[in-house]
Amino acid sequence: MMADQSFSRSELIGLVLRLTLVSAVTFISIKWIMNQVDPTNKSKKKAKQRAQEQLKRLAEGSKQAPLSVDKLTDYELMIAAHLVHPEDIKVGWNDIAGLESLIQDLRETVILPIQKKELFLDSQLTQPPKGVLLHGPPGCGKTLIAKATAKEAGTRFINLDVSILTDKWYGESQKLAAAVFTLAVKLQPCIIFIDEIDSLLRARNSTDHEATAMMKAQFMSFWDGLITDSNCTVIVMGATNRPQDLDRAILRRMPAAFHVPMPTMAQRLQILSLILQNEPTADDVNISEVAKATDGFSGSDLRELCRNASVYRVRDYIRQNNDDRRSTTGTYTDSEDEFHDALRPITMDDLVSSMKKMKESKVHCGILPVRLDLD
Ligand SMILES: Nc1ncnc2c1ncn2[C@@H]1O[C@H](COP(=O)(O)OP(=O)(O)OP(=O)(O)O)[C@@H](O)[C@H]1O
Ligand SMILES: [Mg+2]
Repeated sequence: MMADQSFSRSELIGLVLRLTLVSAVTFISIKWIMNQVDPTNKSKKKAKQRAQEQLKRLAEGSKQAPLSVDKLTDYELMIAAHLVHPEDIKVGWNDIAGLESLIQDLRETVILPIQKKELFLDSQLTQPPKGVLLHGPPGCGKTLIAKATAKEAGTRFINLDVSILTDKWYGESQKLAAAVFTLAVKLQPCIIFIDEIDSLLRARNSTDHEATAMMKAQFMSFWDGLITDSNCTVIVMGATNRPQDLDRAILRRMPAAFHVPMPTMAQRLQILSLILQNEPTADDVNISEVAKATDGFSGSDLRELCRNASVYRVRDYIRQNNDDRRSTTGTYTDSEDEFHDALRPITMDDLVSSMKKMKESKVHCGILPVRLDLD
């Protein structure tokens, strides 16, 4: 009788143990499978970690009270991973040539009202604009200006990557779009920068996917919230080379628009001297000649021109070296110093041939007119 009872008790315990084991294994394996199925799981974890690090670093360098990570929602943490620390940016105002008046203008309309908030408090009309748009042809310095603003403004700066706003789950995109603004308000003063803004906020049409349409609407209504609240200093800054593709309602929310045009001859001269200032150049180099002959070249083209010209001298050196080696079959060791000493400086010929090559390719791409005197 007793044995029977103890047997059934141990049986019962065994059963319970087995059941617990089975359910634990099932739970763990289902969780594992769910994690494997969600491809964004790893990136979400990484984003959270990065957000925590960035917030800590930002708090160290500033007088503002640190923002606790616990106060942020999961979505806000995802966005917070894109916070930019000014120290990580290498570009300052000094790295931008020929756009002094534009920079001055930008500083007065955007940065000054944030930094000297107390001076602007007495009037509703002197508030900084809630939206700033940089537009103009490609390669003329829009992204460069935004980077320098992030470095020099001394405010929190969110570099919003458009791809993080897209999520496969229905409704997640809207929550992320909302989180951009709620996070910015918690972090203020803050600038939200959206590069190539036309890809995110292009004109709405009836063929838009429902989720996209809702995300755009969400964006606009939150942005309006910023506009009506005069105490909050959050500025949305956008850059695009296709302003005509932007939604009209978005354009209205970015009243401060700056056109970054193709450089004029004087500007090209300034850009060229900035690019070549720390490069070894021969005495015969005449940059004003190059500036004169490069009509239709953007800042980025000029950089490419100089890079190409600089490569010519390395190529020449290697060719010459190979010839020498062929003629004298001795042991040859070249240290880095020797290499730099042996390189000749950039000559005018290098610049001119690099320019001709680029002009030809521009003609083929249809960027420059066909009839050209390639001088
Ligand atoms: N005014 C300038 N002064 C110095 N460098 C310049 C200037 N404009 C352009 N550059 C050079 O061209 C590169 C590209 O510029 P940037 O990325 O700002 O172009 P963008 O206007 O953003 O072009 P896109 O519309 O294609 O994005 C810069 O990294 C820089 O080297
Ligand atoms: Mg750009």
